Amino acid sequence: MKRDITVKINNRDESFTIDDADTLLEVLRDRFKLWSVREGCGVGACGTCTVLLDGQPVSSCFLLAARTAGHEITTLEGLSDGQSLHPIQQAWVEQRALQCAYCTPGFVLSVKALLEENPNPTDEEVREYLAGNLCRCAGYADILRAVRAAQEKLRA
Ligand code: FES
Ligand code: FES
Repeated sequence: MKRDITVKINNRDESFTIDDADTLLEVLRDRFKLWSVREGCGVGACGTCTVLLDGQPVSSCFLLAARTAGHEITTLEGLSDGQSLHPIQQAWVEQRALQCAYCTPGFVLSVKALLEENPNPTDEEVREYLAGNLCRCAGYADILRAVRAAQEKLRA
């Protein structure tokens, strides 16, 4: 069945028609061309497709777009300010916490949610929060270092 919904995407109210079977990932990529939203496993197990739904990380491959009506979605494109990277993105680059970068948008958004919820997480809390985000090529030590660097930047 088709339905009309309105969703706030990266701070803009968007009204559009979807099919009930459309996933949020399909809508964000196919309709809005938000290419930072990437498909990995497609079954909610890798975190590559993570976006924020009302500030909380969700797997967009595993969420029907219809469920997001009236809510707010943030993708990586919504974080940077023009040409300036968000402090978490800067930390990722400076700490070389990426190689192919396929997983990076999902990590950056999850870290944003983590640090808003808990500005001073322990290493264990960081690992636990990011357990749903998998990286197949960068080291998790680099990722932890980037989280710490991001914390410093956000504090400043
Ligand atoms: S692609 Fe969505 S969790 Fe893996
Ligand atoms: S940097 Fe390649 S999957 Fe994470």
